[in-house]
Amino acid sequence: MIVTIDGVAASGKSSVSGGVARALGVPYVSSGLLYRAATGLGLEAAVDLHDAPALLSHLQSHPLRLEPLAAGNRVWQGGRELTGELHSTRVDRGVSVVAALPEVRAWVDAQLRALPSPFVAEGRDMGTNVFPRAGAKFYLTASPHIRAVRRAQERPEDVPAIEAALVRRDELDRVQSAPAPDAVVIDTGPLTLDGVIQTILAQLPA
Ligand code: ADP
Ligand code: CDP
Repeated sequence: MIVTIDGVAASGKSSVSGGVARALGVPYVSSGLLYRAATGLGLEAAVDLHDAPALLSHLQSHPLRLEPLAAGNRVWQGGRELTGELHSTRVDRGVSVVAALPEVRAWVDAQLRALPSPFVAEGRDMGTNVFPRAGAKFYLTASPHIRAVRRAQERPEDVPAIEAALVRRDELDRVQSAPAPDAVVIDTGPLTLDGVIQTILAQLPA
């Protein structure tokens, strides 16, 4: 079975997906990491991130491989691991431009659909576009301020700057970020990480 966990930026998707996946004994799949890796490669090669043909041709000549482990996803270009470079402010700023390109979305979707199930898939459109027949779907939210306070533990900027960037990215990602009509929406604001994980586990079909 496939479980999808979508939601806005820094709502807890990857931490929650990791916890749910470990409890189920399956891997989780971070779709955002592929968008981040495409962005990181494009920035590194000074490709114009709005130029879909140029970016796609660069991705085809530098294939990426997602390693969807329950302990944390990793992404590789050939023998080089990119994972550690992809959660930077620079990639945060460019990734929504790359994710808006239909050609890049089709390239990511094809890689995700080729993965062997079962797994937990997290991102924006896992329950709507990529895995519409998933066995259980969740959508995480929290206020921009709460999300910025959480993300401030992982970025050098202060909370107001992070909050402004999150709101901007939510807006740029809005098209692909609608919850599936059959997703359970969870406001993670008042919950601990473990509270969110337990809420999801309690609602999974037996
Ligand atoms: P996303 O994948 O949606 O961007 P993350 O899983 O990276 O979100 O979570 C962002 C930060 O918020 C991490 O530091 C994580 O530990 C923390 N976090 C996530 N969910 C909660 C929660 N319910 N309560 C407190 N902190 C949380
Ligand atoms: O963790 P955070 O929410 O900050 O980012 P992420 O999940 O790693 O996603 C990074 C970016 O990839 C998002 O801001 C979207 O632009 C894009 N994305 C997407 O469009 N569709 C997905 N399924 C996953 C990510």
